[in-house]
Amino acid sequence: GSDILSVEQFDRSDIEHIFQVADAMAPYALRRRVTRVLEGAILGNMFFEPSTRTRISFGCAFNLLGGEVRETTGFESSAIAKGESLYDTARVLSGFSDVICMRHPQEGSVAEFAAASRVPVLNGGDGANEHPSQALLDLYTIRKELASKDRGIDGLRIALIGDLKYGRTVHSLCKLLRHFKNVQVTLVSPAELAMPENIVEEMRSVGHNVVVTEDLTQSISNVDIAYSTRIQEERFASKEEADMYRGRFRLNQSIYTQYCEPNTVIMHPLPRDSRADANELDNDLNQNPNLAIFRQADNGVLVRMALFALVLDVVDQVDKCARDVNW
Ligand code: CP
Repeated sequence: GSDILSVEQFDRSDIEHIFQVADAMAPYALRRRVTRVLEGAILGNMFFEPSTRTRISFGCAFNLLGGEVRETTGFESSAIAKGESLYDTARVLSGFSDVICMRHPQEGSVAEFAAASRVPVLNGGDGANEHPSQALLDLYTIRKELASKDRGIDGLRIALIGDLKYGRTVHSLCKLLRHFKNVQVTLVSPAELAMPENIVEEMRSVGHNVVVTEDLTQSISNVDIAYSTRIQEERFASKEEADMYRGRFRLNQSIYTQYCEPNTVIMHPLPRDSRADANELDNDLNQNPNLAIFRQADNGVLVRMALFALVLDVVDQVDKCARDVNW
């Protein structure tokens, strides 16, 4: 089928093809043109965990291709609260949707749902496991940010900072990076929140130079990208346990100026925790032109449009169903 459940399903040529299709979506995302290619199609957006950008940008991407969106958010607003299984939910919803996006707190739950679905299912995040569309938009952003410096993803130097144990976006991103050459990955986390060993080993097995450290300032001193993540409080046994790590690896403008090479790009999948004791990317970075966090979110619409066009096999039809707009 054409589900998107894990980045493991993509090789380098798939990734490059997705990025080419995403590039071609720019006139639609920028409202210079409209396309009706998915007119009459319905996206079922099933989000059983909080989400702002993944849910809304999947929905906007589908709308921008001309389709309609129906959604449910949280367990309490779905019949799962009455004991309905994922199997029954998938059988029912796939009867009146053309594609489904789903986020769920349990690892493997989206794959279980997809196995019962009659239409393609896209993983919007399954517990601490994977977040494929986020990793694709992150890599797409890295590609774009480095292209302006005449660089590609091969030879990338990146520091991944924060909760690398529960952060599903960095799990998926590391898996994608295996397809590129000579990547230097510095993993910065408390030992208790380290990147799962199998993901580290898989990167080393393709020859990547992987350094594991707890030293933030040294790790950000020689990288192209400093990618920060939030402590995934919802995955911890208690808030108190999460609080032990909160604010451990704060990056602010003064640290950036003192330690980073000029033009080091700062990324974060968002949401960043803006509570005063937590802010892993300080608000004083907001005027820093190398802060790419909102460009990441913008790029998410392009990448998700590409994923829908590919999964529903309409890439060649997008421009044929389009016209210019002027508003
Ligand atoms: N990056 C991301 O997954 O954000 P949301 O939780 O808002 O969807």
